Amino acid sequence: MLVLVTGSAGRIGRAVVAELQARGWPVRGFDRVPTPHLADALVGDLTDAQAVRRAVEGADVVIHLAATPDDDDFPTQLLPNNLLGVYHVLESARSAGVRRLILASSGQVVWWQRERGPWPIKADDPPTPRGWYAATKVFLEAAGRMCAEAHGMSVLVVRLGWVPRSRGHIEELTALDWAKDVYLSPGDAGRFFACAVEAPLGPRFTIVYATSRPLRTALYDMETAKQLLGFEPRDRWPEGIEDMTAR
Ligand SMILES: NC(=O)c1ccc[n+]([C@@H]2O[C@H](COP(=O)([O-])OP(=O)(O)OC[C@H]3O[C@@H](n4cnc5c(N)ncnc54)[C@H](O)[C@@H]3O)[C@@H](O)[C@H]2O)c1
Repeated sequence: MLVLVTGSAGRIGRAVVAELQARGWPVRGFDRVPTPHLADALVGDLTDAQAVRRAVEGADVVIHLAATPDDDDFPTQLLPNNLLGVYHVLESARSAGVRRLILASSGQVVWWQRERGPWPIKADDPPTPRGWYAATKVFLEAAGRMCAEAHGMSVLVVRLGWVPRSRGHIEELTALDWAKDVYLSPGDAGRFFACAVEAPLGPRFTIVYATSRPLRTALYDMETAKQLLGFEPRDRWPEGIEDMTAR
């Protein structure tokens, strides 16, 4: 069973590829930059429909991570990477008969409830997107739901916690109390996506949250990921941070 990981060269992508490889899954990567330590890694852009179709061909599971991972210029970054890219990946997966789609959304889609409660935030609480980046993730979630309802695909959306990509992020996380409750270590991120690949899910649409163990308060509902996927985080801030400082 072949697993395609888009965004395989990124912070989360590299952790996911490493965990899947360690568990013996055949993995293909797709990114606009080369992916280290992966033989079957394609270099291409999400805005290139043909390149995406080639990457998806033969994949049983698609983990879609490639995106602009935070707020950025809408016309030149978010529009091509997070909207057109989602269209190409989901359409290619639908026409290729991919068995399961796993889509990376963000806790930023429930940002304002995260600030004011009530907690823990559930999957079916109404979205309260932080900004345009979060709005693109609401689109991703809606597109995933459409694929499940209209085409009978198995679609799992994960609203990810905060995996720092830089030393600046680590400093921010260190300074913010709430952020330590949504911290997601790269090790836990890798284990989450491996559980998502391996869980026996039928054709359905599901939204779950993934963070490491909260330091003080569970801001997101973690029960659904535990029950459906068997995912239980191992780390708690700042465990696993050393994996990031090497970048
Ligand atoms: N890191 C976090 O805290 C966090 C939190 C919530 C959600 N997410 C989501 O998780 C995913 C991965 O995030 P990350 O932190 O690893 O970011 P990252 O920037 O490290 O990785 C993203 C990867 O996608 C690739 N990419 C971007 N646009 C592309 C395009 N047009 N064509 C091909 N490849 C392209 C980049 O080259 C990069 O390697 C993203 O969808 C992001 O929105 C991340």
